Amino acid sequence: MNWMLALHLVVLAMGTGMSFSNLVNFALAARLPAEQARLLAGLRMVMGRIGDGVIALIWLSGLFLAAGMGGGAGMDAFPVAFHVKMLFVLLLTLSHIGARYSASRAAKGGGAVWIMRARLFTAGVFLSAVASIVLAVLAFR
Ligand code: HEM
Repeated sequence: MNWMLALHLVVLAMGTGMSFSNLVNFALAARLPAEQARLLAGLRMVMGRIGDGVIALIWLSGLFLAAGMGGGAGMDAFPVAFHVKMLFVLLLTLSHIGARYSASRAAKGGGAVWIMRARLFTAGVFLSAVASIVLAVLAFR
């Protein structure tokens, strides 16, 4: 039983699901009065904080798995799909940072433009997660 792979799959499923849930949250909040939209923004903020830990665990478990697989050949042992996957993992991480920053600017009264940016970055997180999953399956199956 590979417990590290199990942890990797659980946290990447959490990250993918939470970013999708936040996209639903954004769509709903856009149609609600300001008071209710603020409540939903609070929920997104909590998800975002949990997301910090989830992304840290995705990196930790992923690097741990990679360290155990390379053998003597180092990074050359991995197929091209794995390297492309890593680009999307980087994009996912940067999008998360962008979403967290934009959401905190919006919470400080930055206005609708920061909410729109946070929404775009969140879409970036979700789409990069989907791309990373497809590329991981391509790389390892
Ligand atoms: C630092 C980032 C990451 C590293 C170094 C990494 C590395 C790895 C490695 C080495 C495996 C193969 C494990 C094995 O077969 O024993 C793996 C599996 C997998 N990874 Fe990652 N990963 C990272 C991030 C991600 C992210 C962000 C996602 C998706 C959102 C993801 C999705 C998957 C999936 C779906 C598998 C299973 C593939 C399969 O067995 O068919 N990984 N990862």
